Amino acid sequence: MRYPPVSPRFPHMLHGADYNPEQWLDTPEVWDEDVRLMAEAHCNVMTVGIFSWALLEPEEGRYTFGWLDAIMDKLAAKGVYAALATPSSAKPAWMSRKYPEIRRVLPDGRREQHHWRHNNCYSSPVYREKIARMDTQLAERYGKHPALLLWHIGNEYGGPTAGECHCDHCYGRFRAWLRERYGSLDAVNRAWWTGFWGNTFTDWDQIEPVNRALHGLMLDWKRFTTWNMVDFIVHEIRTVKAVTPDVPVTNNTMGISPVCDYWKLTPHLDVVSHNAYPEWGHPRGDVEIAVETAFVHDLVRTHKRRPFLLMECTPSLPNNRDVAPSKRPGVHKLASLQAVAHGSDSVQYFQWRQSRGAFEKFHGAVVTHHGHGNTRVFREVAEVGRMLERLDPVVGTCVEPEVAVLFDWDCRRAVEMASGGPGNANKNYEATVRDHYRAFWSRGIPTDVVNTECDLTSYRLLVAPMLYLLTDPAARRVAEFVRNGGTLVTTYLSGIVNESDLCFRGGAPGPLREVAGLWVEETDNFHPGRKQSVRVGANEIGISGEYAVEHFADVIHLTGASSVATYGHEFYAGSPALTVNRFGKGSAWYMAARCESRFQHDFYGALARSMRLRQVIEGELPHGVTAQMRTDGEREYVFVLNFDGEPHTVNLGERLHGNLETGEETPREVVLPPSSGLALERGCRNR
Ligand code: GLA
Ligand code: ZN
Repeated sequence: MRYPPVSPRFPHMLHGADYNPEQWLDTPEVWDEDVRLMAEAHCNVMTVGIFSWALLEPEEGRYTFGWLDAIMDKLAAKGVYAALATPSSAKPAWMSRKYPEIRRVLPDGRREQHHWRHNNCYSSPVYREKIARMDTQLAERYGKHPALLLWHIGNEYGGPTAGECHCDHCYGRFRAWLRERYGSLDAVNRAWWTGFWGNTFTDWDQIEPVNRALHGLMLDWKRFTTWNMVDFIVHEIRTVKAVTPDVPVTNNTMGISPVCDYWKLTPHLDVVSHNAYPEWGHPRGDVEIAVETAFVHDLVRTHKRRPFLLMECTPSLPNNRDVAPSKRPGVHKLASLQAVAHGSDSVQYFQWRQSRGAFEKFHGAVVTHHGHGNTRVFREVAEVGRMLERLDPVVGTCVEPEVAVLFDWDCRRAVEMASGGPGNANKNYEATVRDHYRAFWSRGIPTDVVNTECDLTSYRLLVAPMLYLLTDPAARRVAEFVRNGGTLVTTYLSGIVNESDLCFRGGAPGPLREVAGLWVEETDNFHPGRKQSVRVGANEIGISGEYAVEHFADVIHLTGASSVATYGHEFYAGSPALTVNRFGKGSAWYMAARCESRFQHDFYGALARSMRLRQVIEGELPHGVTAQMRTDGEREYVFVLNFDGEPHTVNLGERLHGNLETGEETPREVVLPPSSGLALERGCRNR
């Protein structure tokens, strides 16, 4: 199926940037030059008003919308749409002074000075009241403006303290949230195991989320922080929707940032958007950066399982990095194509015009301090704009994966907090999940990135590495998935704690013991240099060889699973290291050890072959090349992307491919220069 565009007002690929004309109030000729250059850059959308509160309400209750009126009119006159922001992310200085409660309080009880941005208290009744007034006025004033395309609610919520505020309002709300969740203080004490170090609470008021010893408490505080942040965003969304029910809302999320469990936010948005600042040019290599970026795009798309917006990326160099390489020629186009390949219906930048002063004055921009369009960056942006116009048929199509990789905020939080058992170093939850994901990316097998609350019924394979924290419903969902014929792969450090961070009685993998058909007796954790390996014997999927083990190895006992590989060394040499268990109509694989990446590559390759998982292009892809696909169920849009520094030849197979950019038919064998990509439409008939 084809999903409707973000707004029926402009059913096309979006191309644009954050635009801060309020930094150029004294030079209105710059505004005219801006809109002229926007057309030259093939831009059709600008995000305005993000940090404008101090200029829209310079003193309490006095509103000055004149400059924004002028900008909205100028944009509309040139056919450029506005993602109009609500300005909640930067509180005005006068407000901080008059109402100190809007400033956050740090864990040690000190209230912050007025500074920075993204740092208001989300509980403050005054702040909520002030933003509601502002948002209502914006909605009333611009709700019918011809430039208005969508609401951009705030900006990157969270900020320097990751959204946490230790003020009385926040503590009051936290305790109320706990009462609602647990019902009684006794239940709280049990859930957090407060008998440990004499932490038993005898009154709700004693609960302060500053005690790193109580993992259950700190986990709940993080959950509350997300809940409170989302509650604030919902307050803003309700305010604008009361006036403009039909204007879609978005918020620019930050991918896998720990600041907010975005699965709790995205149900409230009409369209999910995110900001991506991949470290192209980093010594890790662009192939690795591409895998990291693809993973995040896939996650953002999976939130709603429909197209998303790339709200921000840099057209050239990022700000605030120790080393900030320029994007090499072609890299921007490739990165843009990558976003579209994974489901984005836009490429948008931070920022349109470079600031002259302050913290981000050197951040890359479409229009640099030179003030004209005669730069490499501007030309490459314009080229992307032209390309996006040719990619219009892709708008509204989506990716339909058979594979889901599981990445969960609570799992990550809990595993990172854990001390002792799994060792404090090298837990590497994110890198581990990506290491499994990479095996699919490099074969051009599309994947969703789900959490433990997602519906799994449409997938054939669920890859859930380090499924450390498991709620009862999640465990049931995973078991159902396998019972109904799904294939599960899970690993060491799975099924260790419940939702309150209490270890499962009976040991790992906790509620997955029956599904996996085994129990874990010990988890060995290595210093670098200790020799361990996994030796794969004869098996149904046809993988073989010996692989090095890093960091973790479970010593396991089988209660139904069969052993596919064994350990090479140590006191548990010869015992099972990789197992598979039939459960219901499906199978559950258990990787007891963390192996070198080569193992993931080979194992999933063999599994994909035996399960006949759909690859976008049949056969092996060269190093650093991936293929992704969007479809409306009839037409297929294939993206072949080479992130390697070398040219590569790709065989597209039997079916006809047309190049979306040139409109020409593509030969069966295409040569992709370094850092380049192709957008193709695949015909359904055979050659
Ligand atoms: C974030 C913010 C922008 C800007 C950029 C700089 O994504 O949303 O306002 O600060 O970072 O990279
Ligand atoms: Zn607060």
